[in-house]
Amino acid sequence: MSANSPQGFFLDHACISFSAEGELQLSGRPVSELLAEFGSPLVVMLENVIRANCREFRKRLEIYPRSRVYFASKAFMCKGMCRLLQQEGLGIDVVSSGELYTALSAGMDPQQITLHGNAKSPDEIEMAVNSRIGRIAIDKLDEIQLIAEAARRQGLRQKVLLRVSPGVKPSTHEYVQTGQEDSKFGFNLADGAALEAARSIHAQPDLELVGIHCHIGSQILDGGPFRVAARAMLEFYALVQREIGAPLDELNLGGGLGIRYQPEQHPPLIAQHYEVLCDTIISICRELEIEPPVLCDEPGRSIVGEAGITLYTARSIKKIPGVRNYVGVDGGMTDNPRFALYSARHYAINASRGGWQQTQAAAKLPDNEGLWSIAGKCCETGDMLLRDQPMAEPKAGDIIAMFCTGAYTYSMASNYNRVPRPAVVLSGDNGQAVLIRRETPEDVAERDMLPAWLA
Ligand code: LLP
Repeated sequence: MSANSPQGFFLDHACISFSAEGELQLSGRPVSELLAEFGSPLVVMLENVIRANCREFRKRLEIYPRSRVYFASKAFMCKGMCRLLQQEGLGIDVVSSGELYTALSAGMDPQQITLHGNAKSPDEIEMAVNSRIGRIAIDKLDEIQLIAEAARRQGLRQKVLLRVSPGVKPSTHEYVQTGQEDSKFGFNLADGAALEAARSIHAQPDLELVGIHCHIGSQILDGGPFRVAARAMLEFYALVQREIGAPLDELNLGGGLGIRYQPEQHPPLIAQHYEVLCDTIISICRELEIEPPVLCDEPGRSIVGEAGITLYTARSIKKIPGVRNYVGVDGGMTDNPRFALYSARHYAINASRGGWQQTQAAAKLPDNEGLWSIAGKCCETGDMLLRDQPMAEPKAGDIIAMFCTGAYTYSMASNYNRVPRPAVVLSGDNGQAVLIRRETPEDVAERDMLPAWLA
């Protein structure tokens, strides 16, 4: 049975199909079979989707050969993901010792890693420099000395980027805007702080200022703000070259491209977005009479977001006539806090009972009877996954599939209520295998210590 969803919506993806009985199948396997093998709830990552997105980014090399792509590991990180990135020729951006450790222990080339962070610790800086990391993005003045000293101890000259806040405010959720003046990140352009920081870095013999960086926000559905940021950044790039004489060669525009969580959203396609952006960059460089820089990006969501599907089992049903229908599932804000944090709307179906048709049929039922709110299992009212989704009436035991959960769900998961985290499985042409194993209750209590007087 074809998924028959609005054109181009991920339900139409080749890895997603439905059995004759209407059950969702991922890479050809019924979801009930996947849960029987790997347990519930389960995060399934579609390998073909991740690889295809990486290739969309690399297509840019054809029109702009001086390009590099670093995956923003905060979106989804584990050793297997690092291996996929290596195979697809992408680098990685990390923001903590844990992300850096994971990348290094998966065998990532340290030169392909960039360290970010608005409050890096001396230990993180030391770990990064000692591991011969490719770039560190300097976010605060205090870091200059710390990085320079660590580099001196290692007898090397550390390549660094300057993180700039270009004063661009894209329209997206306030919590994921990052490029505006009133932001905790980077040095502002408007008050001259960025130029002063560039001067201080350039004066440090142990540091090599190779480029500038900005990241204006996340889940941005329109290419306009990226072009505005590119202009501000290139003007600054030219100014640093001219005024300070730093031989900059890189412009890193961060990540931020949005994905299609809902059928009515229409983010720019990756390759098209970069075609327009590269043209803009080339023409601004011509105007400013500078060489076009190496263009770097740090996509996270647009690489893994649509690749993830979370499968839950419905455990409880509560209908409150004239008010709301609740289906309680065996996960919640512990494996996906995005609704609780940003009122984010993912798309979900009753995976035991058909595809897009069920959404349409349920939406037509009178008195909102076909709308279901998916509740998590934690002991607080805010633990919801979704409100008022049209779907086929769930029965206890049905499988609920939530789509586009590949980015910022598992990576933001917690053990609130001491709920063990689900397993993550990679699913593709080679079959299905565990990327991150399910936590056990023992795992959850593993690091507890008993002070002597309580033992
Ligand atoms: N580079 C930097 C420096 C970043 O801070 C981020 C994301 C990225 C790249 C990747 O951005 P992306 O391509 O994924 O939009 N937890 C939020 C998203 C926070 C994004 C933080 N920074 C969410 O669930 O929507």
